[in-house]
Amino acid sequence: MASLIARVTSASTRAPLADLLTAPVGLDVWEVEPDHLVVQADEAQAARLQAMGYGVEQLQTVDPYLSAFATDAAATGYHTAASLEQDLRRLADQHPEIAELHEIGRSVEGRPLWALRIGERRGSTRKVAFLGCHHAREWISVEVPYRLAEHLLQNSSSDPVQGWLQQGEVWVAPMVNPDGHEYTQTPPNRLWRKNRRRNHDGTVGVDPNRNYGYMWGTLRNNTSSHVPADETYVGPRAFSEPEVRAVRDLVARELFGGVLTYHSYSQLILYPWGHTTEPIRDAADLGEVRDLAEEMERSIAKVHGRTYTAKQSSGLYLTAGDTTDWTYGEYDAVSLTVELRPATWEEGGFILPAEQITPCWEENRPAALEFLQRVLHRPRDGVRGDG
Ligand code: ARG
Ligand code: ZN
Repeated sequence: MASLIARVTSASTRAPLADLLTAPVGLDVWEVEPDHLVVQADEAQAARLQAMGYGVEQLQTVDPYLSAFATDAAATGYHTAASLEQDLRRLADQHPEIAELHEIGRSVEGRPLWALRIGERRGSTRKVAFLGCHHAREWISVEVPYRLAEHLLQNSSSDPVQGWLQQGEVWVAPMVNPDGHEYTQTPPNRLWRKNRRRNHDGTVGVDPNRNYGYMWGTLRNNTSSHVPADETYVGPRAFSEPEVRAVRDLVARELFGGVLTYHSYSQLILYPWGHTTEPIRDAADLGEVRDLAEEMERSIAKVHGRTYTAKQSSGLYLTAGDTTDWTYGEYDAVSLTVELRPATWEEGGFILPAEQITPCWEENRPAALEFLQRVLHRPRDGVRGDG
């Protein structure tokens, strides 16, 4: 694993920062700012960047970063794959009329992939999905959708939640990548991102958020790589990964009007497209998703004053095969990626201190409920082939 956390700047006009993102160097990009990137890199990559004309400043080595943030105390309050299964079962058992736990597939290592269906009747035509933890190290992305499920069930006998659950269905799958998440439980592996697929060249892991089948594999850069060892390896073909097929099959069956997928970190609300800097062509769709993202930005800020910036996904960086390009491109679902706390690596980066789980959920609750409400009230002719 790469051992440095580094700040990369453009040191010469022959090396613009934007070119670095589109170069196939195999970097693990943590933060993107107008004048610098924060990356995880090894010594050889750092030397290569300098030779290309970039300024590379070591911010910290990974070991002291892990000792500072990946403490035992920092792990308490987060679920494991096993404790999540227990808690989801408990929620379903306590609310048998409106909640149902579904195994939607199995991971590479055979772990069950869970989705909780919440709603009064089966087969409603208004459905929303909340996903978490495509990426192993992004533990907070499990907790926010889990707490959303808990909140909906605890408030299911009073409005507005009761009304929503009468009209529609909410599906919550908080841990799409349990093998990776389990792997990160062992402290030196805390920064693992991908799933645990054995690749043909002996390396491990495919990036589940590059494996969806819309424009899959059409880019070749740091943030969508065809090199199996890289952090953003797209896999040998679209939907090669069982975790991603499980989400595909769920979406194909339920035809969600909206899909919100949680990641961390950076505090962003991202809408399609990710594979191109071109905006969505349909002006009504663009207006709808952008207005919603901006409304969510405002409602998050009201809770604890944190800024989550709404923008097009490719404005962060270009990716091919991410979740929301597929759910929008293939199904016309209102599709957002929310990058949760914190804003920077100094605040922990992927290792959000446990005392921030609750405030992070609190600020995301009204935004998630807005998403839910907007999608449930959306006219259904959005689904292609549905007239
Ligand atoms: N940070 C996430 C990832 O790397 C979200 C990507 C969203 N798409 C994008 N084009 N930035 O998978
Ligand atoms: Zn992620």
